[in-house]
Amino acid sequence: MTSEAAVLRLGHRPERDQRVTTHVGLTARALGATRFFLAADDLGVVRSISDVVDRWGGDFRAENDVKWRRCIADWKADGGVVVHLTMYGLNLPDVIDEVRSHDRVLAVVGAEKVPGEVYSLADYNVAVTNQPHSEIAGLAVFLDRLFEGRELSADFPRAKIRVIPSAHGKLAEGPTEER
Ligand SMILES: C[S@@+](CC[C@H](N)C(=O)[O-])C[C@H]1O[C@@H](n2cnc3c(N)ncnc32)[C@H](O)[C@@H]1O
Repeated sequence: MTSEAAVLRLGHRPERDQRVTTHVGLTARALGATRFFLAADDLGVVRSISDVVDRWGGDFRAENDVKWRRCIADWKADGGVVVHLTMYGLNLPDVIDEVRSHDRVLAVVGAEKVPGEVYSLADYNVAVTNQPHSEIAGLAVFLDRLFEGRELSADFPRAKIRVIPSAHGKLAEGPTEER
């Protein structure tokens, strides 16, 4: 069963992808991944994600300007598997049980066209449907199926602020200025 998931973001263009890439990182954190590798130099994105970790807790680390080939090679050398999320891959329900049998999983998502080499470097090319959509949606569904919903009730240690779930209204505990 998978105990650790990380996300590698490829193809980030600082002039147009900041919001989406930040949301890829926040989705990774919220849905059970523990690391985010940005294969581009955009400290602003990494700082935004780290700021959320600082206020909302959890064991999550975002890294700027990683070299993606090195990142993939290191992950594999440490015994992890690499899953490239792409609409051209094998559909999720057909492979997720096999993917989940691996302890450490690196999910790779693109922005613009992903280099062809990624398809062969990946251990699995996985589609969340074989239809074009979004890296945020694809990642969310993938992580949820990987962790079989357990991530939805995870704890985030060292949180300064915490939502108090309520049927109506907005309730939270922690300093107002941190929200
Ligand atoms: C908006 S798409 C652009 C893809 C680009 N046109 C290409 O051909 O590589 C950005 C990313 O979303 C993810 N994505 C989009 N549709 C997907 C799907 N059906 N299944 C899994 N991932 C998907 C992939 O990681 C992709 O690199």
